[in-house]
Amino acid sequence: INRIAIITSGGDAPGMNAALRAVVLAAENYGIEVMGFRHGYEGLLTNDFVKLDREDVEHILQYSGTIIKSARSERFKSEEGGREAATNLDAHQIDAFIVIGGDGSFRGAEHLANFWKGPIIGIPGTIDNDLFGTDNTIGYDTAVETAMDALDKIRDTAEAMDRVFIVEVMGRNAGYIGISSAMACGAERMILPELQKDKPLTVDALVKHIESVQRVRGDSSYVMVLCENQWPGGAVRLAEQLEDRLNLPCRPCLLGHVQRGGRPTAMDRILGTRLGVHAVELVRQGKTAVMAGVTANELSETPLIDTWTKRKKLSEELINIQQSLFNPIKKDRNKS
Ligand code: F6P
Repeated sequence: INRIAIITSGGDAPGMNAALRAVVLAAENYGIEVMGFRHGYEGLLTNDFVKLDREDVEHILQYSGTIIKSARSERFKSEEGGREAATNLDAHQIDAFIVIGGDGSFRGAEHLANFWKGPIIGIPGTIDNDLFGTDNTIGYDTAVETAMDALDKIRDTAEAMDRVFIVEVMGRNAGYIGISSAMACGAERMILPELQKDKPLTVDALVKHIESVQRVRGDSSYVMVLCENQWPGGAVRLAEQLEDRLNLPCRPCLLGHVQRGGRPTAMDRILGTRLGVHAVELVRQGKTAVMAGVTANELSETPLIDTWTKRKKLSEELINIQQSLFNPIKKDRNKS
């Protein structure tokens, strides 16, 4: 192996730079060159690349975003796009390809494998933490910290003014950011995809819960974490619906893309560094179509296809604990 190509693809995640840095430094130890293609798969089509040396990456691990930029490329998904990318990789005498991204990026890797026969390794980088084969994805821990910080601030004002807040967090179709931030901040309620799919909540049920929490506690601050895509019209609509029913101001707050930025936490920098080095080792061992991961704190590897076809299960224990803490409806009933 003389030359590795690398991209960061899909939604950027804090710690991607740390992983990129680790790949470049580890590769350099073995005399392997690294070429970064910019803007994800799009860069493979436009031949937009930059050679990455030690000095390019030495001081980037404390920054979010990605120095080689990221994108979602529609063009690459076509047969022609796959073929063109493969031709360009060959033209640059690339021996192995590393992609840092989420499930969409790994599906892209599978597409590329139809046209390019070199080894392909994935590094999990997404705030959503929704990839099978690794306990955590790079960026998830920072996103939770960001959501937690915002929720703490929301609690201050909710308490001061006896208000109900609906805080919408990211995660696409997974509730990892939702459950972790709700638990870390003592949110009274969470609306998670994993719960919604079996037993979707109704406005009636939510009103009942809010009223009973208020009755039991004797005050009116109530913070609900709503995972994106789990309520028609999102937090804004839900706040309107609740305000119509309760005699209380209900305010929505959409955290949105702030969850993708900020200083990566130590956990994400360390994870990015471990996985970057691990990916280079996997390349050297001749592995292909696998994702580098960390499982039970040990380095692991998982077939790329499993990372999105198998579903990582959100801990039921966490869900039960968090729900049990705010079950005042029962307590209320027992009292009367
Ligand atoms: O996958 C990361 C993520 O931030 C999701 O949580 C969110 O649903 C999506 O990307 C947003 O995508 P975009 O940045 O393209 O709006």
